[in-house]
Amino acid sequence: MSEDKGRPARLTERRKGDHVDICATEDLAQDYVYWDDIKLVHNPLPEIDLEEIDTSTTMFGRKLGAPLVISAMTGGYGKAEEINRNLAAAAEKFGVGMGVGSQRAALENQEVARTYSVIREYEVPLRIGNLGVPQLIPQGEVAPLDVEHGRAAMEMVDAHILAVHMNYLQEIVQPEGDTRSRGGLKALERFASALPVLAKETGAGIPREAALKLKKAKVKGLDVGGLGGTSFAAVEYYRAKSVGDSAKANIGRTFWDWGIPTPVAVVIANVGLPVIATGGVRSGLDAARAISIGASSAGMAGRLLPAALEGRDSLEKELQMLIDELKATMFLVGAKDVDELASSKAIVTGRSKEWLDQLEE
Ligand SMILES: Cc1cc2nc3c(=O)[nH]c(=O)nc-3n(C[C@H](O)[C@H](O)[C@H](O)COP(=O)(O)O)c2cc1C
Repeated sequence: MSEDKGRPARLTERRKGDHVDICATEDLAQDYVYWDDIKLVHNPLPEIDLEEIDTSTTMFGRKLGAPLVISAMTGGYGKAEEINRNLAAAAEKFGVGMGVGSQRAALENQEVARTYSVIREYEVPLRIGNLGVPQLIPQGEVAPLDVEHGRAAMEMVDAHILAVHMNYLQEIVQPEGDTRSRGGLKALERFASALPVLAKETGAGIPREAALKLKKAKVKGLDVGGLGGTSFAAVEYYRAKSVGDSAKANIGRTFWDWGIPTPVAVVIANVGLPVIATGGVRSGLDAARAISIGASSAGMAGRLLPAALEGRDSLEKELQMLIDELKATMFLVGAKDVDELASSKAIVTGRSKEWLDQLEE
């Protein structure tokens, strides 16, 4: 995610490769599964036929075959082109949304633009560009990106919306992290006044106060990117450890479980904007849980990465399984479409309930 203007392109490429390798192979698990706190109520007489169930939905004016988004993962280095190609082909086949990884690398080096723009070859119904808030403000001598860069990033992938990611948990652990954040909200506001912007966290969640500020800044939607799945504190812990940076590795270990659990963030960040529930979504059941507590769709990154590396068949099997699980859940609660799923009752238990009880006091 974090970028390296003024740093060698090789470093950026190596880091992007590291992220994919670490996320595909290392243990990044949290000590608790927050999605299991959300219980849906069984309906013994659904009075619908499984085959009638309609998983389609509309988000940001785009019609999706299912309320699912393949979250931003990669771009900017060799292997990324094939990963993004596999992801885009699957997104086209199932009619789900898809984001690319941070595009800063390609704004600086046209040679890698293809690793992102490959997704234009597919009819992905919702294409999401990606830049990071830390790059919209000056970082030392490094000049910030402006709205024209945002426009160029969108054009590169023919995006319907631009995700601007907030990833300071990662930056604080990353050996080469960008740790200036003053002016971030103003910069986001500038972008959102000119372009359709999705404000996106990357694993630490969005609380209500920030959601309200982002709404005021005129973003079009929120990807709450909460705790419970890929932890970038953990990812950067492995990177710091591998280069012998024990101070950063220590911060990564300490903040491994930092953040607002995704289901909690979905509830508290619901300020009337479309919400994408990303962070630890493992199944179509989790996606259904997300919809039932107010999300417009569920996003997934880490869960799909191993299949994306294996190839198109594996990825298609994974997505089919997710949609089958989503349909099974809709059948068992008696929801024939996504609107009915959204209005079905959800019970919040465990640590998620404790969080909500205290936040809503
Ligand atoms: C390998 C990898 C690279 C990622 N790179 C980006 C990125 O460049 N920009 C971004 O906004 N999010 C990035 N993310 C974060 C995901 O989009 C997502 O918010 C996060 O992984 C939580 O979802 P998960 O638990 O399903 O993995 C990346 C995730 C992974 C696994």
